[in-house]
Amino acid sequence: MREMNSEEKTPVGVVGVGWVGLVTAACFAELGHPVIARDVMEEKVDSLRRGEITIHEPGLAELLTKNSDRLRFTTDMDELLEGARLLFVCVDTPPTYSGDADLSRVRSVVDDLRSDGDHVLIMKSTVPAGTGEAIRRELPGLAYVSCPEFLKEGTAVQDFMEPDRVVIGSEPEHAAAAEEVAELYRPLGGELVLTDTSSAEMIKLASNAYLATRISFINEIANVCEEVGADVEEVARGMGLDERIGPHFLRPGIGFGGSCFPKDVNALKLLAGNSGYHFQLLNSVIEVNELQKRRVVSKLTKHLDNLIGKRIALLGLAFKPDTDDMREASSLVLSARLRGEGAEVVAYDPVAMDSARSLLPGVEMMGTAQEALADCDAAVLVTEWSEFREIDWSEAAGGMRKPVLIDGRNYLDAGELRAAGFLYEGIGKGGDRG
Ligand code: UDX
Repeated sequence: MREMNSEEKTPVGVVGVGWVGLVTAACFAELGHPVIARDVMEEKVDSLRRGEITIHEPGLAELLTKNSDRLRFTTDMDELLEGARLLFVCVDTPPTYSGDADLSRVRSVVDDLRSDGDHVLIMKSTVPAGTGEAIRRELPGLAYVSCPEFLKEGTAVQDFMEPDRVVIGSEPEHAAAAEEVAELYRPLGGELVLTDTSSAEMIKLASNAYLATRISFINEIANVCEEVGADVEEVARGMGLDERIGPHFLRPGIGFGGSCFPKDVNALKLLAGNSGYHFQLLNSVIEVNELQKRRVVSKLTKHLDNLIGKRIALLGLAFKPDTDDMREASSLVLSARLRGEGAEVVAYDPVAMDSARSLLPGVEMMGTAQEALADCDAAVLVTEWSEFREIDWSEAAGGMRKPVLIDGRNYLDAGELRAAGFLYEGIGKGGDRG
């Protein structure tokens, strides 16, 4: 096929330049498309125009700089509508108090498009199944395509550029618009799943709920392994070799967090409930996850008798490594439980301490991992930051009141820790019972 130059490539519009919108804008620009991205927040747009970004995402800043001549940022909806027919909607849909997705930002975009007949609304935001159908009924002149995002924090650029699959949902009358979207993604090579709108919306919710279910499942297996003297790492390895199961998302730990899994599992449960179906399994997935965040407390109590006045160090606060994101992080529940038991909690995280400070009142933030460990009665590894493998554990053991370490992610070398003098306990390591 003839190579097109950038001027000939289809312009792409992006509505909402949060994390998903910015990755989408930068990646389409990298693919040679002129991109116009619109956000309501003037400050954000101004700083993006100056080339400044505040989001931690590997490779993103470089792509934005490299493709700055193809990227335009605006607050003006009319400018966006003039600049592109294909509009990727990437606005936030956070949970409301009822746990349902808050669609107010989606609504305001739809209101802006009300009189428009020519544009294609491509929904990347996670919305309840049925949202596309409702918008289509309201705006029959507008072509609607569902194209959910599957980006992971920390690898979002790579996930966009090398997708496992791209899901594109539309109704028959908008098949031509869906094909235009498919054309944008074809150069990336992932399998294209062309389906109806509600199925596309369900694929997103069901994928996240299934991954969360795998994590809660392996966490329960870990808990049983502790009772029967088995090693969950061996169990997960043996299970994962079955092609029907596969090795991914079977890492036990102290619970899943982040901006998507907890929200989407709950949203799917509520969506089912609102439609009259009781999604029994997801109740357990959520409950297991909540309990898993607290199990560390009983492990500590076993070693320390009680936690009153005991100084406990948390190593890592973010919901996963390589991000400063504290949303639904296990550290939030764990630190509150420890303080509830009368413990004094100190913490160290390489990047999340600034975002964590206001969320963890009463938790003292320390400058380094060694400082956090000094004078402690026990420590808990909460987030598997790679720098924790570089800690001088012999030095750390010498400085602690009692060298107890609960490894909430099975991340450290048990042999090394024990040789350094630690009373080391992981998750689901039945052989550690003592
Ligand atoms: C997730 C989905 O993977 C992504 O497709 C979706 O678009 C957004 O939500 P993300 O929130 O960035 O991405 O995090 P992910 O890497 O999937 O991890 C989520 C949580 O699960 C973390 O708290 C992590 O520690 C935990 N996890 C993950 C486990 O406890 N065990 C595992 O085996 C995998």
